[in-house]
Amino acid sequence: MKDIPITERAKIATINFIFYIAAIALSSAFLSTALLRIEAFKKMISIFPGFTKLLSFVQYYGFIITGGIIGLCILCKMRRNLLKVLWFTIKAPFHLFGIGINKSKKMQQEKSLNKIQEIIHQEEKASYSLIVPLDLLPDNTEFKENKVLSNAQYEDAVKRAFKRIGLMNEEDIQEVRVKAVKEGPQAVQITITVPDGTTISKIRNESEDLMHAFSVPSIQITPARAGMINIVLFFEKRRFVVLKDILKDAKVQAHIRRAKLPIVIGVNPIGEPICIDLAEEPHLLVAGTTGSGKSVFDEQALITLLMAKSPKELKLVLIDPKIVELDAFKEFPHTLRVATEPRDSAILLKEMCREMDRRYAYIGKKNCRNIDQFYSKYPRQKEELPLIVILIDELADLMTVAKNEVESSILRIVQKARAAGIHLITATQRPSVDVVTGLIKANLPGRIVFELNSAADYRTILDKGIQTELMGKGDGIADISKERGYVRFQSPSVGLTENEREQAIERIRNFWIEWMKKQSNETEKTDSIAIYRKEDENHRESFFVSKAIEKDHEPIFKHGSGKLIEKLVPASDFNEETSVKEDEYEEFDIFQGEEKDDLFGDKEDENSDPDVYIRLQILHKIRKEKNKQKGQVIIYAPSSNELTRELGIRKSTVLEHYNDMLKEKILEKHVNRRYIIVASDEDIEQLIESQEKMLQFINE
Ligand SMILES: Nc1ncnc2c1ncn2[C@@H]1O[C@H](COP(=O)(O)OP(=O)(O)OP(=O)(O)O)[C@@H](O)[C@H]1O
Ligand SMILES: [Mg+2]
Repeated sequence: MKDIPITERAKIATINFIFYIAAIALSSAFLSTALLRIEAFKKMISIFPGFTKLLSFVQYYGFIITGGIIGLCILCKMRRNLLKVLWFTIKAPFHLFGIGINKSKKMQQEKSLNKIQEIIHQEEKASYSLIVPLDLLPDNTEFKENKVLSNAQYEDAVKRAFKRIGLMNEEDIQEVRVKAVKEGPQAVQITITVPDGTTISKIRNESEDLMHAFSVPSIQITPARAGMINIVLFFEKRRFVVLKDILKDAKVQAHIRRAKLPIVIGVNPIGEPICIDLAEEPHLLVAGTTGSGKSVFDEQALITLLMAKSPKELKLVLIDPKIVELDAFKEFPHTLRVATEPRDSAILLKEMCREMDRRYAYIGKKNCRNIDQFYSKYPRQKEELPLIVILIDELADLMTVAKNEVESSILRIVQKARAAGIHLITATQRPSVDVVTGLIKANLPGRIVFELNSAADYRTILDKGIQTELMGKGDGIADISKERGYVRFQSPSVGLTENEREQAIERIRNFWIEWMKKQSNETEKTDSIAIYRKEDENHRESFFVSKAIEKDHEPIFKHGSGKLIEKLVPASDFNEETSVKEDEYEEFDIFQGEEKDDLFGDKEDENSDPDVYIRLQILHKIRKEKNKQKGQVIIYAPSSNELTRELGIRKSTVLEHYNDMLKEKILEKHVNRRYIIVASDEDIEQLIESQEKMLQFINE
């Protein structure tokens, strides 16, 4: 409804009103005719002669009015709307007697509203791609005050302006429709349909008059789809943008889902978001004089990364010669290293080069050429090589202290580090050749340029001059691989005031600190689950499961708890009573030479294949018992926490192995009969979940 112009809305309301009148007139006429035909009723009301007259009046004029309106509809070719009259007529008597139409309508409306809200909620949930809730970021308080016009209001404004300058005749002006409006920080783009014969050049010729009519400092007329044109009106005063508004955008969310290192550059003058994947870029050079918005840009870029990636996927290395600029990021669990002194920073950069070499050697040993290949070949081991983003807040400070060292480290990083999953963002106030040397520049294609002091500086960074002066405070030009040529943008800020920004970063930091705590708590919780061996007075042994470590009993399998995976019986059912007595079981060795071949087929070499190695470790630790009476076998599996600790591999890797082993029926094959697996509650839960997901997938 919002997009329908006011005049159209008034027309629809009037037509509806007339139909209502017709419907009421018709139903009253029918009713009075019916009543006047009932003799008893006529006799009864004969004592009120006025009432009889009123009924006859309603009957007479009711039909005349309805007839008139129907005739009018036919004349105006609105025959379809006659159905409406009929529908209203049927409904009117019910309305008259107050029979719950309103109520049911209200209920229906409420129901459909709830449904819509539910769908929106579900869609939002499904499409939400950040780990950290967006609510932790502040809203744009300033933008709310700048009232956004509706499409109808823009249409009125366009029509008025066209009329004032006499661009077309009144009839043509009425044909103009606003099809889309994009409001940005610097301009609004209004896409309109124009009548045949109205050319772009005709409108462009009137640009100056149009500027005057719209009272804007600048205007652009560009072609849109056939029969449409874009009018871009520039604002007198630019609007600032907050990160939250950009991250809300569905396209940006989709980009965040896809990208390995999603970063928002900003929005173009008409508000369309510009994002990059730093992993593709793969490094950025940010230049701008003091106060131009470099640190605000770096901050929002880090926040997007920190909202999208967990400390397991992303690590930060911060070089902050001004000491305070990146202070807020020190306590994030993602932050690997921070350096503030130029000398320390130079050493840190050298260390990062060594890390890069280490990664290359490791990836090479796994027969991979780069980190992408490593990730796809060993998805379970991603955590071993999380992506690293190095941020240098001021390059000039480092270059003055240890130019050669820093330059050679940076060069090595920008030339080689991409394949090792290491990326660099470096900012500088001074884009002169002694800081951004020719070699660095040649290897750093991604450029973000904010306001600079001179035309020469722009040329140094962009390799060409620019036409307009940048305004500072996040007004920038990006030269990034995704965009063809240069693109003007307004960089967002995490919050519009320093206070807002600081508080938002603190909230996100607390989110991750809590997240880390929760992870370690979970580990502790499952650690306290154990299977105990208990002896009765006859020294007969039995097993039971408990969540708490009890001093009197020594756990036989420290991290296990019981659940019957075959039947999905909850852990609580595996208790002292259901557990079995020792003499009902015979223990047998899980691992005998020839069975090993059976288990792994051709994947035998445990040294060359980490998967085989992990499986062997799991199987070495498995204890298997056979219930002679029930013909069941119980397999006590080591918990993922225990294996994680002992083998130094990721918990999810262990779980994936369990899952694969179940899928491949390795255990079943080995045991060759019904079996029960006893593992930790948490492990089993996750295994069941992934099995259910798999089943669902197969069914679909
Ligand atoms: N994108 C933006 N939106 C709104 N305000 C901004 C933006 N960028 C910068 N500002 C304003 O400009 C001020 C200076 O920005 P910033 O600290 O990023 O400059 P800088 O380029 O890092 O300067 P220096 O080189 O001195 O560190 C900020 O405190 C903020 O008030
Ligand atoms: Mg700064």
